Amino acid sequence: MNIEGQSVIVTGAASGMGAATAQYLTKAGARVALLDLNSDQVEEKAAELGAVGVGCDVSDSDSASAAVAAVVSANGPPRVLVNCAGIATGERIVGRDGPMPLENFSRVINVNLIGTFNMIRLVANEMFAQEPMEPGGERGVIVNTASVAAYEGQIGQAAYAASKGGVVALTIQAAREFASKGVRVMTIAPGLIATPMLMGMPQEVQDSLAASVPFPQRLGDPVEYARLVEHICQNEMLNGDVIRLDGAIRLAPR
Ligand SMILES: NC(=O)c1ccc[n+]([C@@H]2O[C@H](COP(=O)([O-])OP(=O)(O)OC[C@H]3O[C@@H](n4cnc5c(N)ncnc54)[C@H](O)[C@@H]3O)[C@@H](O)[C@H]2O)c1
Repeated sequence: MNIEGQSVIVTGAASGMGAATAQYLTKAGARVALLDLNSDQVEEKAAELGAVGVGCDVSDSDSASAAVAAVVSANGPPRVLVNCAGIATGERIVGRDGPMPLENFSRVINVNLIGTFNMIRLVANEMFAQEPMEPGGERGVIVNTASVAAYEGQIGQAAYAASKGGVVALTIQAAREFASKGVRVMTIAPGLIATPMLMGMPQEVQDSLAASVPFPQRLGDPVEYARLVEHICQNEMLNGDVIRLDGAIRLAPR
């Protein structure tokens, strides 16, 4: 799919990889709608880009439905969905104070996995209702964000790793289910990317993280994620799979 002129939804677009993707795809000529829980920041980002900004909790059925409806009326039905909204927490399954409170696990699953699923179900429904595009019969492209933690969850990452493992599992499943409608589903599993999620850490921690990447020995740039999203949209043969964007890093246990 050539994304020029297409209606695109990016979640988690107030910050990090979502913000970089919204900016990159807007420059490439897409009509991008930026969705984020942080409504002030997302409206500000959208205004900078001359794009549409909508406050939205991806894990809430009503909030996400209202946001998708707002996008349809502003930009037309979406052809591309990029799921970037996510949260990361660190807590052992059994810590010094006893077992992890169940709600802490549920909260991460709720945003990262259920939020991704919620957006997929609502946006795919809009994609299915559109005419297929020529010449290949494609109706839409969905790009999710997992993490290398889906494969090598570190100590303290139970909730995060499980949530991202769920996103990985959904990829081939949803691609199969949507194939007859011409909607592709792909997932990117980033390694260590220089976004506010990581940049809040002390400099020496960032340096040691960067040194743990085999090559290139640095943190990833959010724009490198955005470029991969564009490529996935353009390359019709990419479907039902997860691409690691990680400089060959394999996370250590801690
Ligand atoms: N930065 C990394 O190294 C890294 C590595 C692997 C995976 N990831 C994943 O990439 C995605 C983007 O991360 P980032 O580093 O850009 O983080 P970020 O914190 O910079 O941005 C995440 C955005 O998601 C939004 N968000 C959180 N909960 C939401 C909700 N319920 N509804 C709507 N929006 C919500 C936040 O407000 C924020 O703007 C996340 O899914 C994250 O888990 C990040």
